[in-house]
Amino acid sequence: MGQSADGRTRNQALLSWVDEVAALTKPDDIYWCDGTKEEYDRLCAQMVDAGMLIPLNQDLRPGCFLARSDPNDVARVENRTFVCWDDEVDAGPNNNWVAPDEMRQTLNGLFDGCMRGRTMYVIPFSMGPLGSHIAHIGVQLTDSPYVAASMRIMTRMGQGALDVLGDDGKFVPCLHTVGAPLDPGQEDVVWPCNETKYIVHFPQDHSIWSYGSGYGGNALLGKKCFSLRIASIMAKEEGWLAEHMLILGLESPKGEKTYVAAAFPSACGKTNLAMLIPPAGYEGWKVSTVGDDIAWIKPGEDGRLHAINPEAGYFGVVPGTSTKTNPNAMTMIQRDTIFTNVALTADGDVWWEGKDGDPPAHLIDWRGDDWTPDSDTPAAHPNARFTVAAVNCPSLDPAWDDPDGVPIDAFVFGGRLSTTFPLVYESTDWQHGVYMAATMGSEATAAADNQAAIRRDPMAMLPFCGYNMADYWSHWLGFAEKELKLPKIFRVNWFRKDGDGKFIWPGFGENMRVLEWVCDRVHENLDAVEGPLGNMPRYNDLNWTGLDFTADAFSGIMDLSRDAGSNEAEAQKELFDSFADRLPAQMEDQRQALLQEMQNAPEVWRVAS
Ligand code: OXD
Ligand code: MN
Repeated sequence: MGQSADGRTRNQALLSWVDEVAALTKPDDIYWCDGTKEEYDRLCAQMVDAGMLIPLNQDLRPGCFLARSDPNDVARVENRTFVCWDDEVDAGPNNNWVAPDEMRQTLNGLFDGCMRGRTMYVIPFSMGPLGSHIAHIGVQLTDSPYVAASMRIMTRMGQGALDVLGDDGKFVPCLHTVGAPLDPGQEDVVWPCNETKYIVHFPQDHSIWSYGSGYGGNALLGKKCFSLRIASIMAKEEGWLAEHMLILGLESPKGEKTYVAAAFPSACGKTNLAMLIPPAGYEGWKVSTVGDDIAWIKPGEDGRLHAINPEAGYFGVVPGTSTKTNPNAMTMIQRDTIFTNVALTADGDVWWEGKDGDPPAHLIDWRGDDWTPDSDTPAAHPNARFTVAAVNCPSLDPAWDDPDGVPIDAFVFGGRLSTTFPLVYESTDWQHGVYMAATMGSEATAAADNQAAIRRDPMAMLPFCGYNMADYWSHWLGFAEKELKLPKIFRVNWFRKDGDGKFIWPGFGENMRVLEWVCDRVHENLDAVEGPLGNMPRYNDLNWTGLDFTADAFSGIMDLSRDAGSNEAEAQKELFDSFADRLPAQMEDQRQALLQEMQNAPEVWRVAS
């Protein structure tokens, strides 16, 4: 290919950095991506020739491919992810830390000659609508064509981003390699990666170095590394928020539009919620999708918080996606999608656990081995993914690409919690809301390896906050001091179980009932009951049209036992103690207030109907 930089940019900082990296990594060739469809098709065709992509049946899934990763390269590697502040305390207990000089020495050694025998792709990209004042530019250098093709789906990539960058614009340098060159005789390895992995962030120059993995969360550096870890640092420095949040629009039959940004830990249904289809009984309501994973939120001139989705595509978990859980996604991934680590059917289609219908009698599983329903391993990896452009989404919001973003009315935080936590409650004020979000917890999922069964995941940002999380809470609390009309804050829990271990709440489209209450509270259409955890709806405050959900079932999902509430408040101490004197005093004040509330609460606190 050999497309050069000639005439594409005069940005000296970029040209010098590309030269510098090429001198270190020694690729055979350098290719500047222009972001065109022709280029994408060419990259895909090359990967098909190399065995890295398998074209799917073009009648069933036009424009779709299957990629199979190395079995050891299937998820984010949190224990190999580092944020190298000068001072360890600035990284906080929520990040792995190595002194920057030491890390630079290690990486310089690993990156020396690491692209030999391969092409280095130069990928200019914009996170957010081109030219938006909320967006930022990055450039990724990588030796993976899978990453180059995926970046075209996931970001506004190519010449447009270079044009926005201009001659002296700033960009976030994102350097990626799948790892050391292949040993002689291993040239046919289709998914190169390395046992040694480093996902490293340098706050001093906002740079990212990623070594040894081709998996999206470790390798598509615009996503978690830039849009969350580095952007959270930029946001703190500049007074905005970079959050692990979906953004959705809700339009009532009266035409009132409400935008909600909602944070859930990885693999807790953010994509499903972002693409929700309201149930029967909600005729006249429209739900639309701005983003499914990340929100950049800046104060607007109107004093409201405006959010963009920095991404231009979805890198979603496939297993569990069906016409019941996410009909919009099922339509969206029918064409022009790269599937990674799902199973292949005899007729060249894809299959995964949780798809509609019974499993076929025979499949090729995600590792490329024969599979039958009697096999004792899943056919698709539990963290198998789709990569697909936002414009494929049938519920895409008309303002999804608006450079001014959309005004946010409510923040919603939720974890996967089988006990104690109610379906929904609202904070009494901003500080209380920050405390509710900061103490959020969730049960483990497949999106990252080596997780504890339950972990606190403040704001769903534990793996993604690029600095000391206590300072991040102070940053959030600081918004109350500004002249802003701040969103209301809610917590939800779709995952509470009954005594038989069954989910009480039907979830998916039915979550609309909770969202409607959120809208009602935002627009002050309804009052609420003050409970120990926050403001709650009565049974009759929710719209039950079309769903048989009794007042008793509602109790089962809203009641709070005094013991469980007290234990929760006690347990939060461990989280707070881990931040020592960086913890904002307001957080401990909030915890003490909850302890007090619980002491005075009845044995079981129940919302009246
Ligand atoms: C993701 C994740 O891929 O959170 O979005 O792991
Ligand atoms: Mn995510």
